Amino acid sequence: MQETFTLRKFMPDDLQAVMQINRVCLPENYTDMFFMDLHQRFPETFIVAEENGDIVGYIMNRIEVGLSNLGLGGLVRKGHVVSIAVLPKGRRKGVATALIKAAMEGMVQYKAKQIFLEVRVTNNAGIDLYKKSGLEVTRTIGGYYSDGEDAYVMSKKL
Ligand code: ACO
Ligand code: ZN
Repeated sequence: MQETFTLRKFMPDDLQAVMQINRVCLPENYTDMFFMDLHQRFPETFIVAEENGDIVGYIMNRIEVGLSNLGLGGLVRKGHVVSIAVLPKGRRKGVATALIKAAMEGMVQYKAKQIFLEVRVTNNAGIDLYKKSGLEVTRTIGGYYSDGEDAYVMSKKL
């Protein structure tokens, strides 16, 4: 099928649109400073999707250093998907899949060796999306979310 969307890097002018998508799609919301900090530190992995001139989705990430949970040995750089969302009108067209692929390419530019994220254990759409992108459940964190729900940690080597 012909793709109807395009991807590009986040620009500061996109801030209000991205914050609005975040508020509509997820209960985990952040300050404008938080979004701008991730853009300034990791511009290659903060990506938006546009459809007919409107932003319909975003992915933002942080590069962290930590112990590998995938047997990569010792301390490694990891790409952490902090937040991804696509507006309802833009869903089931491959937008999120494309955003993850582009973010993984950016993570490699920052020398990250693996990608990981947390997802609610009841978020079937998210879990399926990540499995299709090659991530696997590597851990469960009890009571991770502020309402008490557990999180799966999902990870993949880059
Ligand atoms: N039900 C079941 N499976 C789904 C669904 C759904 N509603 N949506 C996506 N999937 C799975 C399917 O396997 C799909 O492949 P298919 O369409 O060929 O069947 C695959 O994911 C890829 O779908 P995309 O079209 O790439 O995903 P989309 O652009 O629709 O975005 C997303 C998916 C981001 C989960 C969207 O539904 C959304 O914004 N949800 C609310 C916010 C959210 O849950 N974000 C993730 C939180 S975790 C975190 O941010 C780290
Ligand atoms: Zn996280």
